[in-house]
Amino acid sequence: MIEGNLVNLRSPEMADLERNTQWINDREVTRFLSMRYGMSQAAEEVWMKEVCAKPTSYERAFFAIETKDGVHIGNTNLFNAQAADQKCELGIMIGDKTCWSQGYGADALRTLVMFGFDEMNMNRIQLFVFDFNERAQACYRKVGFVDEGRRREALFTEGAYHDVLLMSVLRDEWQRPA
Ligand SMILES: CC(C)(COP(=O)(O)OP(=O)(O)OC[C@H]1O[C@@H](n2cnc3c(N)ncnc32)[C@H](O)[C@@H]1OP(=O)(O)O)[C@@H](O)C(=O)NCCC(=O)NCCS
Repeated sequence: MIEGNLVNLRSPEMADLERNTQWINDREVTRFLSMRYGMSQAAEEVWMKEVCAKPTSYERAFFAIETKDGVHIGNTNLFNAQAADQKCELGIMIGDKTCWSQGYGADALRTLVMFGFDEMNMNRIQLFVFDFNERAQACYRKVGFVDEGRRREALFTEGAYHDVLLMSVLRDEWQRPA
């Protein structure tokens, strides 16, 4: 368990299956993710069994996000870790929409970024975010990610092309939470 101020990050459990299936089939959530087709519970179960069977590790740093009351509200992960470059990518989904814009995402990100820098020896953590996902961009900037690039019309969704932004944070520039 990794403790933040508003949330804790814990290992995923099979008990999370139904919630995860619900979230990844909710278009209001998945319109912000690279996940346009949805997923059956059976397919999600196969994926989760694989994730839960192995210890959380450098290669697969996947965490469930829980409030301090122990309510599972989403997931976050560091992936594509490349040891030679000390860099990786970050993903996050607060699947419970009633929890959006209350600071949970920023706290989960600060907690995960600090873990990435201090425990996994990352030097750079990057992410991609759709141009219309203004909440996520505001959240990432608040945490310390800086705009780095724009992949023009890299995404086609909802009948139109959209740009995809690249953001990153470096260990030396990161303002640690007090
Ligand atoms: C993106 C996400 C992780 C952010 O977590 P969160 O808990 O909602 O975010 P926070 O409350 O920490 O921060 C959001 C900030 O955006 C602001 N915000 C909300 N809607 C906004 C909008 N339409 N435009 C600009 N800013 C907005 C909030 O006011 C808040 O800033 P503040 O704290 O300065 O007031 C979460 O909303 C989520 O998982 N959404 C669905 C999936 C997703 O988008 N994942 C990321 C894919 S790259």
